[in-house]
Amino acid sequence: MTTKNVAEILKADSFLQEVQLKGWVRTFRSNRFIALNDGSTINNIQCVIDFENTPEETLKRITTGAAIAVKGTLAESQGKGQSVEIQVSEIEILGDSNPDEYPIQPKKHSFEFLRENAHLRVRTNTFSAVMRVRSKLSFAVHQYFQERDFNYVNTPIITGTDAEGAGEMFRATTFKDNEAPITEDGKIDYSKDFFGKETSLTVSGQLEAETFAMALGKAYTFGPTFRAENSNTTRHLAEFWMIEPEVAFMDLDGNMDLAEDFIKSVLNSILISCKDDLAFLDQRLTQEEKSKPQAERSEMSLLEKLRFVADNNFKRVSYTEAIDILRNSKPNKKKKFQFPIDQWGADLQSEHERYLVEKHFKCPVILFDYPADIKAFYMRLNDDGKTVRAMDVLFPGIGEMVGGAQREERYDVLVDKMKAMNIDEKELWWYLDLRKFGTAVHSGFGLGFERLVQFTTGMNNIRDVIPFPRTPQNAEF
Ligand code: 4AD
Ligand code: MG
Repeated sequence: MTTKNVAEILKADSFLQEVQLKGWVRTFRSNRFIALNDGSTINNIQCVIDFENTPEETLKRITTGAAIAVKGTLAESQGKGQSVEIQVSEIEILGDSNPDEYPIQPKKHSFEFLRENAHLRVRTNTFSAVMRVRSKLSFAVHQYFQERDFNYVNTPIITGTDAEGAGEMFRATTFKDNEAPITEDGKIDYSKDFFGKETSLTVSGQLEAETFAMALGKAYTFGPTFRAENSNTTRHLAEFWMIEPEVAFMDLDGNMDLAEDFIKSVLNSILISCKDDLAFLDQRLTQEEKSKPQAERSEMSLLEKLRFVADNNFKRVSYTEAIDILRNSKPNKKKKFQFPIDQWGADLQSEHERYLVEKHFKCPVILFDYPADIKAFYMRLNDDGKTVRAMDVLFPGIGEMVGGAQREERYDVLVDKMKAMNIDEKELWWYLDLRKFGTAVHSGFGLGFERLVQFTTGMNNIRDVIPFPRTPQNAEF
């Protein structure tokens, strides 16, 4: 007799074989039918027990959430809703679950409630599906880059540099409360701290990834990043995972091609590897949409959206064109935007991004050539002297999925830019070295992994696509 998981058993094409398996009870009805799930698939397997020959004591312990082991015969199911079932000959309760205390009942729970029980929510259909898709997506990410000769680089998590220059870093220190040494001018003396300087958790691995691109040609990171931005939105986390490819001798056009091809490829591979979970999530979203007013409902189902993005070209539009479109848009003229667009140079808010993607173009959009003033110091200055070779990939329902750029490879231009933006040249001496020794055109981007998981699973809140979300006022678990 072989131990198989539910996913394997449900695929079985021969009956009457003896099987044994372990899992958790989802439901138990009529003292006979156990819906058993072991996490290998969204689907449960029905286990039919011979209740006349099962002690009362055991029957009582078959409750939602209990861990059990069963042995039995695989049979064609008599009942509706499943093709196979297990006729149980032996059952063992491995771990009880007191039904009066177990928070995850076989009914619909709100996502808020489940967030408070994040240690148990992965036992539900929705979260198990989301987390399996997340896992497969991360594999697809590595597969995409590995098959194209990118080198996976692990960049430091503790760093002295603020790559994005936005001042949104979490400090990393070993100083105890009130015990930090103070310098003569009254500041904390980080020269006495663990690293001998002020350090923080990284906001991006890009700058270090560039060192690898300039030696190995193609590199990518896929690791945790941290941002202390106080934004309580459905798209921001304080701790999130970012994928950052970086490629030597590639310009911005190549960067746009790479981002688009990458996203389409991973979506295509998920459409194949996560069929059952996506079918479930598609149904879930369709149900959820039904509770919305007609006008707010999505025109496409989840699967249609995924196929649409995988099959259609992203629209490429310059920032300047986008500003024209926005300036002349209905919501702008009717003063419906919270931040009206009146002139070139304005930073785009998510309401503008979503207008472009959801109302105007109705497809993913790559905006490029942004004003230098609203972008990071490392982006390559265009000949117009006022725009940089930046790009953002904007997605329906999500907004910014990707931010990237062709990097400033000219030493003097970069130094001038760092001075103008108050970036410490001494701290980034090694970054400047890349421009001194064998500098070359190079580009890369960062994709927020959770936003990709959000899009793929149709989950509205980013807190529901990462196992244990870190957000302002929340670091439970
Ligand atoms: O646009 P960002 O800030 O770009 C960078 O960090 C560059 N260094 C990337 C690069 O060129 N290598 O962030 C990149 C992406 C965003 O487009 C977004 O998807 C995601 O990271 N992101 C967040 N995701 C969740 N929570 C947050 N607080 C995020 N901030 C950015
Ligand atoms: Mg950005």
